[in-house]
Parts: sequence; structure tokens; C-alpha cells
Amino acid sequence: MPAPNIDTIVSLAKRRGFVFPSSEVYGGLGSAWDYGPLGVELSNNIKQSWWRWLVYDRDDIEGIDSSIILNRLVWKYSGHEATFNDWLVDCRNCKDRSRADKIVDNKCPKCGASDFTEARPFNTMLQTRLGAVADDDPAALAYLRPETAQGIFINFLNVQTTMRRKLPFGIAQVGKSFRNEVTPGNFILRTREFEQMEMEYFVSPTAEHSKLVDYWVEQYLEWFSSLGLIRENLYLYEVPGEELAHYSKRTVDIMYRYFPEREKPWEELMGIAWRTDFDLSTHSKNKLDEEGKRINPDSTEDLSYFDEPTKQRFYPHVIEPAAGVNRTVLAVLMDAYSEKTNDKGETRVILKLSPQLAPIKAAILPLAKNKPEIVGMAKAIKRSLQPVLRAVYDDTGGIGKLYARQDEIGTPFCVTVDHQSLEDEAVTVRDRDTWEQERVKVSDLAEHLQKRLKPYPVPPPEPH
Ligand code: GAP
Repeated sequence: MPAPNIDTIVSLAKRRGFVFPSSEVYGGLGSAWDYGPLGVELSNNIKQSWWRWLVYDRDDIEGIDSSIILNRLVWKYSGHEATFNDWLVDCRNCKDRSRADKIVDNKCPKCGASDFTEARPFNTMLQTRLGAVADDDPAALAYLRPETAQGIFINFLNVQTTMRRKLPFGIAQVGKSFRNEVTPGNFILRTREFEQMEMEYFVSPTAEHSKLVDYWVEQYLEWFSSLGLIRENLYLYEVPGEELAHYSKRTVDIMYRYFPEREKPWEELMGIAWRTDFDLSTHSKNKLDEEGKRINPDSTEDLSYFDEPTKQRFYPHVIEPAAGVNRTVLAVLMDAYSEKTNDKGETRVILKLSPQLAPIKAAILPLAKNKPEIVGMAKAIKRSLQPVLRAVYDDTGGIGKLYARQDEIGTPFCVTVDHQSLEDEAVTVRDRDTWEQERVKVSDLAEHLQKRLKPYPVPPPEPH
């Protein structure tokens, strides 16, 4: 039973230290959120799983970490300065400003009137100024990147030559991106500062691009299922021609059921796009337009590739799976959410996170906190487990309360140290999902937990 709505997760996230509204002491900042002690672990675990899966488990992908602020010309030639726009309309009645594509039935979402201004473009790149310059000096204008992808394209040759790569190969990057969203909202679903996990997969111009899009869609469906996402809560949206970004010939969005309570429950979790050779060509000094003119007189590099077997030089095409970290965190939390009733008829929340994602893998709990021997043994067990898995010690309540707290934050195992443990050097291991308990020797504990915590297997990539 996944969460019935996003609000259930907002309240759990705040109550249990996953995500807090940002800048709360000053009344908050619309749609900005801070990750708390458990949220940062969950989000790091998702990013690590992604990085391991693409960069370590496969042999055809390298990782990089490029700057957030790039030369402004990058955004000129990528097309973002000209086209990275939302179309806005103002309601003439109440002056509310909305995105034109979000108006339903030609009615203002605030007052219901149908009298709008003409739609006009609003560039959603977040601007900043570099250096100690006058406020209006245009030379100082720079942008916080709206996608991590461009940092990959402009490093294509650096990576290809230093790592001696032949096509096909990919470059992955995870990091912050920024968009001056007109209508941010729905918790961490749409914010102005967010994180992306993007991978640009470079292939020959004669490769079967559409098939490669399907291949990456399948790969990501499997990865999401390894994170615990329920297949029925994912849906594939073939983006129609008129909605495609300026660089794309085909895009498939993987949508997640973020709004199970609504008539339109789906919102984008990620997109897989065939970006053609647009980006490498546009940043290259030698690429000519139809009239034989250089399309980029500012570039000092040519990002083309020499293919040894065919002795041909060309601009590789790109298949790009682009996913949001924050949207993955939210989907994972929603699908992990469940409720269970105990013998006393009380309803408990259990966060059935995949063990690889759980912020804490084992909580070590003393049955009696006023017994120094038990407390000492529990703390020693915590310290001995820490090098192999994330463990915490907790004695801030009765055992029932401590179990409930760990269930609610998704800790797969509670390890209880009791009076008997002092005699038999064994502890009780309690399973989060079944509440079943078993006795395990302290000397076997690390191995026992590690075996049960093994990440869900991710199927090996298919050859293509
Ligand atoms: N490089 C291609 C690209 O950026 P996108 O569909 O605009 O494509 C990719 O963004 C992913 O980034 C989205 O599917 C979503 O998961 C995430 N994303 C985009 N804008 C976001 C926002 N304002 N807040 C949170 N996540 C966002």
C-alpha cells in the first residue's frame, strides 16, 4: 500500500527528519526544502546506487563532475538563452500569473475568470553576476546551469581522449541544477534548486537510435524496480512531436503516480531523449550550416570523432537518460510507505525501503538502559558493526516505541540486547517488515546482517 498522497510523505518527512521546509526561521522560502539527517542518507544512497550501476557495473560509462557556472556562450549555443522559456499569461481580473500550458478550461486557477493577456516567453535560467562589477554590466551575467548535460558535452573530447574511449560510450554526472520555475510546488517534485542524474550515451550517427531509447527505458525500469518502485506506479509517455525539446527527435518520459488521489495522477520522473548530434555540433568550431557558414564562430574546439574502422569523421549522436534525484527520493518514499496494525489495534507506519536505500541499516537497542552491562554491550556492538554497515545506538524510549520509530524511518533490522545476552553472547534480531525475531550470536551478527541486507540484484546490462 503506497502513500495515499504526497501530503502523507510531507508530514512523515518532517516528523522523522527526512526533509524540512527551508529557511523556516524566517517564514520559509517558497518551494525550497532542506534534507535532514535521514533524507541526506536516503538521497546519497540513491545517487550511489545509480553511480555504481552505471559507472562501476558497466564497462562503457565514465563519470565526471563539471562546474555549475559555465561560460555564458555554452547557453547561447545550446539554445537555452533563446528557447528555455515558459510561456506566461496574466489574469486581467486578479493579476495572477500562470504558465499558459497549465491553464485548464481557459479558467484562471485563482479567480476562475477567463480574461488573459497574450502569452509571452519567460526564460527560466537562473541568473547571477560574476565578480565585483556594476549591477547592470552585461559582461558579468552568468547562469546557474539548468541541466548538468552541457557540462558533459563540452567535456566530450577531454573524456574520450584521456580515457581512450571508442563509440559507443557514455558519460555520467550527478549534481545540482537550477531553474527559475514559475510555478514550483508539490513538495520536492518541482523546485528551483534540484539535483539531476544525467548520462549522455554517445553513439554513431548510423546506430539504431530509437531502439537505443527503448533499451535505456528498459534499463531504467529495472533500476527503479531495484530501488523498490512498483511497476504499476510507472507509466511510459511517448512525448508527441510538438512537445519535443528543440534538440530531440524522440523522447520517452517515465512517469510516476505522484498523485494517486487525482484524476491525472502522473508526473515526470525522468526522460530518455535522442538528442541527435545537436549538442556536439553546436559547440564545434568546424560545423557549417546549409550556406557553408560556421554555426559557432566562438568555439575553439571541434567535438567531432574519428571512427577508425570506417575512417570517417562525424559528430556522434546522443541518447540521454535524465533523471531527477529529488523526484526519485519522493517516488521511493511514496512506494515504501505502508501501514500495519499491531496486536493492540494500533496503526503503525512502516517504511519498507529497499535495504540498500535505508538511511540506517541496524538500530542497536538495550532492553534496560539502567543496566550498565547491557548498555555497554549494546554500544560495543554498535561500534563493531559501524565499519561494515550504518548502525545507530538508541535508548531514548521503551522497546515498543524504539521499534516503532525505526519502522517508521525504514530501518530493516533492530538488534536488541537483553539480560540473556550477557550470558549467551547472543542478541535478538527483529525484521522490520514481518516483525519476526530470531536469536543470533554476536560473533555472527555482522555477517548475518550483511547477507540479509544485500542490495536487490540489478540485472546485468544486455549487449547492444
Ligand atoms: N538534460 C535534459 C533535461 O534536463 P528535463 O526533462 O528538463 O531534461 C530531467 O529534466 C529531469 O530533471 C526531470 O525528469 C526531473 O526528474 C528533473 N527536474 C527537472 N526540473 C525539475 C524541477 N524544477 N524540480 C525537480 N526536479 C526537476
